[in-house]
Amino acid sequence: MNRRGFLKTTSAGIILAGGTVSWAQSGTRPLPKIQMTDLIDGIDGRIALSLSNTTHDFGNGAASQAFGINNSYLGPVIRVKQGQTLPFDITNGIGETSTLHWHGLHIPGDVDGGPHQEIAPNATWSPDVPIVQHASMNWFHSHMHGNTAQQTYKGLAGVMLIEDDASLSADLPKTYGVDDFTLVLQDKTFDSNGKMSYVLTGEVFEDGFEGDTLIVNGAIAPVSQPVPTGLVRLRILNACNARFLGLSMASGPITVIASDGGFLPSPVEADSILMSPGERYEVLVDMAAFGANALEVNLNGGNGGFLANLFGGDQTLTALSLISNGTKGAADTMPNRLANLSSPDPSQATVTRSFQLNMDGNADLAALALAWGNVCGEGVMGINGQPMKMDRIDEQVRKGDTEIWRISVDDMLHPFHIHGCSFRILTQNGAPPPNYAQGWKDMVHVEEGWSEVLVKFDYQANADAPYMYHCHILEHEDCGMMGQFTVT
Ligand code: C2O
Ligand code: CU
Ligand code: CU
Repeated sequence: MNRRGFLKTTSAGIILAGGTVSWAQSGTRPLPKIQMTDLIDGIDGRIALSLSNTTHDFGNGAASQAFGINNSYLGPVIRVKQGQTLPFDITNGIGETSTLHWHGLHIPGDVDGGPHQEIAPNATWSPDVPIVQHASMNWFHSHMHGNTAQQTYKGLAGVMLIEDDASLSADLPKTYGVDDFTLVLQDKTFDSNGKMSYVLTGEVFEDGFEGDTLIVNGAIAPVSQPVPTGLVRLRILNACNARFLGLSMASGPITVIASDGGFLPSPVEADSILMSPGERYEVLVDMAAFGANALEVNLNGGNGGFLANLFGGDQTLTALSLISNGTKGAADTMPNRLANLSSPDPSQATVTRSFQLNMDGNADLAALALAWGNVCGEGVMGINGQPMKMDRIDEQVRKGDTEIWRISVDDMLHPFHIHGCSFRILTQNGAPPPNYAQGWKDMVHVEEGWSEVLVKFDYQANADAPYMYHCHILEHEDCGMMGQFTVT
């Protein structure tokens, strides 16, 4: 079975990466390399992205119905240099209304791709997306209100890597597919014919979608990859609908160099990291130290904690085996400095806002719940007592103000996300976040208690194209655990 993908441009050819991945017949599959654009640094054409109905083989020989973006599943990795403006033509060929949101980008509300920038079937949306922020791993996915979970699950998602002068000159692995890999982690369910299916088991209100099979770049895990003996860089996205993943290495600690919004000041070692849906972390693996190593993923977050109880026990799987190919790597010394980052200073905040995430169904909006049918069941969720409503602005923020956002929950663990910014986490239930989560973030975990972040917005979002804040368990988001804000 082959898997092909192309990134097309509509005029002056800048990028065109075609490629083929062959599945192994049995045993460990090769790591699929998602097509990546050449570094976009100077553009004269527009960039065509086409959302389409596809069939995709996840490596089990079955042709699953899926969505792809210039691919049979997921989109290309778009790699761009800071300072460029990306002129996209995004054509919707999936036969239902959709949107494409740029998760992590600091961009104005009217090109953010949220629920207000719907793309009707067969229509084309042409935002010019300015890339102003520094090196970071971002992503894009459907944000179609009420249908984000299903559309993203079927494959409307992809990765955008931003590079800057510092990241391009850093002594880090940077040859894509050789010592620098993008990993998109997801969980899936397959039916008795081996086809991908979206079935909500358990309490939808609590759990969201839980699949029993781990997928890496559209292939059923485990996958394997030969690599040089030096440092290997893994840029990892948790693109699950609802699962928190616990990441660790089979040998040695896991070394984190970057979080959602960019590099940490220096590498941070941890036994494991807890990664929510929507989060990104970049990891360095020292192949010289171990000869071979593996990225392991606990589908329930690991450590036998809260999530393991909720989802029924620990289950650690090998996601990716790294095998030395005997060649010498380009980078072999762990860097000690990566970025300048001062500690967040809460005394700069002039405004504090509070958000209470509500799990309870809201009787007043039973009609809405009915419209969303199978996803939301008998009720809807909300924030501060209100389920998301397209024509209600919940918060008005002044551009350039530094604010503290305090997010509370009564039960469960929720991953809270804010559009249009990167923030710093101040505290989670009174304690500082783990070292690896102390850099730039756009996601924060809130577990039976509260978390606070320090945030500032530098771009405009008007009432007709507001930003969103929401729980990134996609079923919670679809069911109303989302709000809208302007920045003016
Ligand atoms: Cu990843 Cu509002 O989105
Ligand atoms: Cu977002
Ligand atoms: Cu939630």
